Amino acid sequence: MADNKQVVKHGDISQRVGVEVIRARGVDVDNLIKMLIANAGAEFASTYYYYTILRMHLAGHEDYKEICEDARLEDRAHWELIVPRIYELGGELPNDLKAFHDGAGCVAAKLPDPPTAVNILTLLLESERCAIRSWIAICDITFGKDPRTYDMASRILNEEIEHEAWFIELLAHERDGKIVPSGHFRRGTPGEAPYSKNAHFYNP
Ligand SMILES: [Fe+2]
Ligand SMILES: [Fe+2]
Repeated sequence: MADNKQVVKHGDISQRVGVEVIRARGVDVDNLIKMLIANAGAEFASTYYYYTILRMHLAGHEDYKEICEDARLEDRAHWELIVPRIYELGGELPNDLKAFHDGAGCVAAKLPDPPTAVNILTLLLESERCAIRSWIAICDITFGKDPRTYDMASRILNEEIEHEAWFIELLAHERDGKIVPSGHFRRGTPGEAPYSKNAHFYNP
């Protein structure tokens, strides 16, 4: 089918066959780029940055701190994984950090007042839920059409779903005294990112 819709001319460096082929399969590339930038903003600004502060305030709960750190570093891995794809598709990051932050697809995970473990874990849980919704939306619009973006988004989604399960487990324990197993143990090393791993996978 793509053979009938070839638009990139021989030697043309102004357009990309990598974009032509996914557009020919029905991907709205401009919209995809916008969604990826919003998701990158959520990973980098709404979560990675603010999770740093949240983790600090889980002082006294070494187990919660470690799980928060896994989620924090894995969100950084998600940011690193997806940014090159934005540029491959012909997009670019806003050259203004404030604009980037303000365009993020999830609200900033700002330190709650009071910064109790229950309030922090609730915020972490809801942040992960936003991430799941955001990444499955990318999976939905790329499935069967853009295998490369789909592969990246589904790797990230795998970890976001684990993150939600971790914070359900911790919040259930801390707030309700209930046992709601996540089904997982902690990562081997902090922020290991088994699905989205950028070291050894894509980025240096
Ligand atoms: Fe993430
Ligand atoms: Fe996450």
